[in-house]
Amino acid sequence: MRGKTENARFSTLAIRAGFDPSHHREHSEAIYTTSSFTFDTAEQAAEVFSGDEAGNVYSRYTNPSVRVFEERLAALEGGEDAVATASGMSAILALCLSVMRTGDHVVCSRDVFGSSLGLFANTLSRLDIQCSFVSLRDLDAWEQAIQPNTRLLFCETPSNPLSEIANLSALSDLAKAGGAVFAVDNCFCTPALQKPMAFGADVVIHSATKYLDGQGRVLGGALVGRKDLMEEARSFVRVCGPSMSPFNAWIFTKGLETLELRMRAHCENAQALATWLQEQTPVTNIFYSGLADHSDHALASKQQSGFGGVLAFELAGGQEQAFRYINATELMSLTANLGDVKTTITHPATTTHCRLSAEQKQSSGISSSLIRIAVGLEHIDDLMEDCSRGLRALST
Ligand SMILES: Cc1ncc(COP(=O)(O)O)c(C=O)c1O
Repeated sequence: MRGKTENARFSTLAIRAGFDPSHHREHSEAIYTTSSFTFDTAEQAAEVFSGDEAGNVYSRYTNPSVRVFEERLAALEGGEDAVATASGMSAILALCLSVMRTGDHVVCSRDVFGSSLGLFANTLSRLDIQCSFVSLRDLDAWEQAIQPNTRLLFCETPSNPLSEIANLSALSDLAKAGGAVFAVDNCFCTPALQKPMAFGADVVIHSATKYLDGQGRVLGGALVGRKDLMEEARSFVRVCGPSMSPFNAWIFTKGLETLELRMRAHCENAQALATWLQEQTPVTNIFYSGLADHSDHALASKQQSGFGGVLAFELAGGQEQAFRYINATELMSLTANLGDVKTTITHPATTTHCRLSAEQKQSSGISSSLIRIAVGLEHIDDLMEDCSRGLRALST
């Protein structure tokens, strides 16, 4: 068959991996919008239901459009298998409930996505699964937090929105020594820039909603990792129901085809904007690991092939000045999402991180003057002009 991907490189895998055309011999991946699948005989139904014969039964279990996405993402991350889910959060829940049970313990970096924090701190604690939160970069704190019942180490790198970087090899060593699964949320880099499993992670998590789609259209998530771990997660999705829809899977599959090009362009625009913002007097601090003076620049350069599309900066003057800045911009979208070709601007302290206590905000570096820009793919001069509008509006 044509379209072989054995030993193929990243961009080829992104375009062709996992594709198995139907008898119609379509060239572009089809969308299988069907809830269930048929059988010719009762015997065949029995064989497929029992798993003795390969085949699809019901789209909550498996669906060919979803399977293409899973196989393609697994190939790009370098994992044995992948499981697609309805959202990034259901991917994280599937992971938690397949590796942990009542009485177990998880160690998680403090500055993970807000709903992940809520899941670890509140939802799981109702099942008597306790979580210790530690600073992403404090390896001693990770080590000390590990207990005999720790089953999972979980982090997000780069962190949102300050671009702090986890030392993946060191965390993987700690997880191995403690007998725990090490999971990394790779939403901000995607496999185009970072492959956590190459540094020892057992599982990679995605909110496909972000860069894998790339155009802000649909929700979805995925886990990638060892076959045994994926089998557990797949049976959770099958039984509990947070399956990915075939239409969304098709969007993500087509999104993967341009992922590498888009990520490169996001990195170029973000690097240029960060370098320019750094020179502007009202900007007192800038957080982008692509800048040589970012505290984690060296580690990011080792683990990543690019620094991503998200940057943050602080202005003198607190929330009033930050709001003035945001309100004066005219091009960038004022919305919480990221990973979109459209650039988005947010005030984390009053939006994405608004549920953190004042103390938590302080320890996570979410100040009242902090602004996050998830840099899209518009022309860089237009983005700089929009940022200049914000700067001109500041009171002196
Ligand atoms: C890093 C990260 N992980 C997970 C999620 C959750 O993904 P979803 O919104 O697809 O459930 C998000 C959402 O913003 C995120 O930014």
